[in-house]
Amino acid sequence: MAITITFGIQKGGCGKSTTAGILSYLLHQDGYRVLSIDIDSQGNLTELLSEQPSNEFIGKSVLEAMQQTDVKKHVHPISEQWDLLPANNFLATFARWIYTGKTYQGDHVPFNGNPSLILDELLNQVRDDYDFIIIDTPPSLSEQTTNALCASEYVVVMFECSNWCYSAVPNFMSSIESANSFGSRETKMIGILRTMNDVRRSDAKAFNELIAEDYPDDVFKTIITRKAPVGRLSLYGFTDNAELKAGLDQYNNFYKELISRVQNQRD
Ligand SMILES: Nc1ncnc2c1ncn2[C@@H]1O[C@H](COP(=O)(O)OP(=O)(O)OP(=O)(O)O)[C@@H](O)[C@H]1O
Ligand SMILES: [Mg+2]
Repeated sequence: MAITITFGIQKGGCGKSTTAGILSYLLHQDGYRVLSIDIDSQGNLTELLSEQPSNEFIGKSVLEAMQQTDVKKHVHPISEQWDLLPANNFLATFARWIYTGKTYQGDHVPFNGNPSLILDELLNQVRDDYDFIIIDTPPSLSEQTTNALCASEYVVVMFECSNWCYSAVPNFMSSIESANSFGSRETKMIGILRTMNDVRRSDAKAFNELIAEDYPDDVFKTIITRKAPVGRLSLYGFTDNAELKAGLDQYNNFYKELISRVQNQRD
């Protein structure tokens, strides 16, 4: 049965999509069967992994998978044993569909279940087909994020070392606790990843220390710094990228820490 991990924080631009993409890649490289899910209407994870514009997936995305209650019909293969459930801008109509039954095509597809558990229930169709399901979320505490949290066993909280990200953390933690209490998967925070670190800035260093003082048992030891090859992953992707190794270097340590925490939880 797959282990589902969500990457989230409602503050924008904290490395959620990049890290979810890299983690999916590292899991795949390690021989695990992986399903990567993009539940953000920006479609950034979709473009990173598929190396195609997210508009290519109009009508063939996670939104239609939820509306038609069919995952397999909507997954896009990335590689052997690695699939993507893509997203595009039409995912912005998700909440309207849940509460009015109206789809973006103008059809009426009434939804009668629990609006927070749509993704969780949908994924039951494929949990036995993968070892890991990795979910990238939007920068908001929206219906998409609630669905991702309720569909996951574990959540990595992305912490970009800034004041506004620091303010976002407590409410995000509360959302994880809510998912734990009303969802069916005992959703837990598995750790806080300090990322996008600018080594030249003393305020960044101070925020990294502050979050470690607040959550000493939760921060990962690895701190991800800003590096050009990581930023350029959105241009070059994972295939035929000469600087891939340089980009992924620091993520290997995070990967090892995360897998070991997951294994400790399972033992
Ligand atoms: N370690 C890094 N070094 C350099 N650039 C990075 C790094 N991580 C992410 N980036 C770049 O920073 C920007 C924000 O990253 P990303 O899109 O992954 O964040 P996000 O949290 O998913 O954003 P959003 O909240 O909009 O979904 C992107 O342009 C990405 O390429
Ligand atoms: Mg993103």
